[in-house]
Amino acid sequence: MTKNKNNKTIWDTRIKSSTSSLFQKIGSSIDIDKRLYREDIKGSIAHVEMLFKQKIISFKIKNKIVFGLNKIEKEISSNKFQFNKKYEDIHINIEKRLFQIIGDEAGYVHTARSRNDQVITDLKIWLRSATKKINVSIDKIIKSTLKIAEKNIDTIMPGFTHLKNAQAISFAHYLMAYVEMFSRDKKRFKNSLENLYENPLGVAALTGTSFNIDRNYTSRKLGFKKPTNNSVDTVSDRDFVLDFLYSVSLCSMHISRITEELIIWNSEGFKLINLSDKIVTGSSIMPQKKNPDLLEYLRGKTGSVYGNLFSMLTILKGLPLSYFKDLQDDKEIIFKSNDILINSLEIFDEILKNITPNKKRMFELANLGYITATDLADYLVKNHSMSFRKAYQKTASIVNLAEKKKKNLDKLTLEELKKIEPKLTNDVLKIFDLKTSINSKKSYGGTSFDNVKSMITKYKKYND
Ligand code: ARG
Repeated sequence: MTKNKNNKTIWDTRIKSSTSSLFQKIGSSIDIDKRLYREDIKGSIAHVEMLFKQKIISFKIKNKIVFGLNKIEKEISSNKFQFNKKYEDIHINIEKRLFQIIGDEAGYVHTARSRNDQVITDLKIWLRSATKKINVSIDKIIKSTLKIAEKNIDTIMPGFTHLKNAQAISFAHYLMAYVEMFSRDKKRFKNSLENLYENPLGVAALTGTSFNIDRNYTSRKLGFKKPTNNSVDTVSDRDFVLDFLYSVSLCSMHISRITEELIIWNSEGFKLINLSDKIVTGSSIMPQKKNPDLLEYLRGKTGSVYGNLFSMLTILKGLPLSYFKDLQDDKEIIFKSNDILINSLEIFDEILKNITPNKKRMFELANLGYITATDLADYLVKNHSMSFRKAYQKTASIVNLAEKKKKNLDKLTLEELKKIEPKLTNDVLKIFDLKTSINSKKSYGGTSFDNVKSMITKYKKYND
């Protein structure tokens, strides 16, 4: 293990006594932000290369610093680096170690920058790749959902409003609703990259710097598109953190909605889907139980993700410009939300591979609750020149009659139907067929089998 012999803080000339151990305990963020070491080193290398190009430091010093930084990266990645809480964060831990490796010339690395711009440079670079990784995981979810949808275009289930049977739909169409949601999530994450492509490095503590730096150069080196415009805003801004946390919250919320549906559908009351033994757990007392714990876990995790969004909103509320220590917590919040989402997406993909629709039960349930009543009303409008409102009332009377006779709509005879609307003919009876009902919903975005099929094809192409 590398020993850190130089154990003075960088501000010991100015601040005579050492920080109280209590403050060290809460002020140190190294346990959290050491996760940014790669980005920090990358940022420092780009910075010193720029300082050399601009003739602010010599070739020799630049090379020594780059050598030291590369060595530190190797030490950290092979777990040979000793992090010290006394040096607060990843930036000072690395700077201190650089002194040990290359000596006093390490003192040039922090020319024309501050930890204030350094930390958000690291964070933005980290968030860019985290955002892309999340989108890869969302892609997997979309692919797995499309696979189930493809096999269930003609699987008929009840569509619900208020959790009451509303109109019959294709199970695939229902699943494709979630494909829409996850696709929007991907787009939202992608859109948030725009702000992450603005380079904070070089705004220094808050005013910019008197050194002749080249921020366009570091932007290019670090994969940013352009430097940020205002130095004060740059060190104060955490909007990009909120964008990320909000995007994570929405994606999490979508997961919580589908997991909730699966929990309901798996219940004894519904029995619309089966969960394989791989994704259920037993009870310690009730031997018969197969509980959807994993689904509940995902639904619950959304609460923590929302909490993180609200923590950050609250930290920023009323915070004056520019940098304050309050902001240090942003990283812990981001890492927590990111890890929860990555984990949830992985688990959810596993869940998708372990569910099977109970087609028979779906069809049975879809036949309850006078689910074709709207189709009948539409039929009356189209075939017996009635206004929709009039047709609606006629149909309601027919439903009342069916209820009185304790029959489904399709079990009413033509004679019975004619008591309510004498103009009806045999032709009306086909309206009560669920497949006919579904296939009549041909309007763009509707549930007809053909529509669903072409939407699946479209998404499959898009996601290849
Ligand atoms: N560790 C600090 C953070 O994450 C870095 C910036 C510190 N700047 C300062 N002036 N204390 O926010």
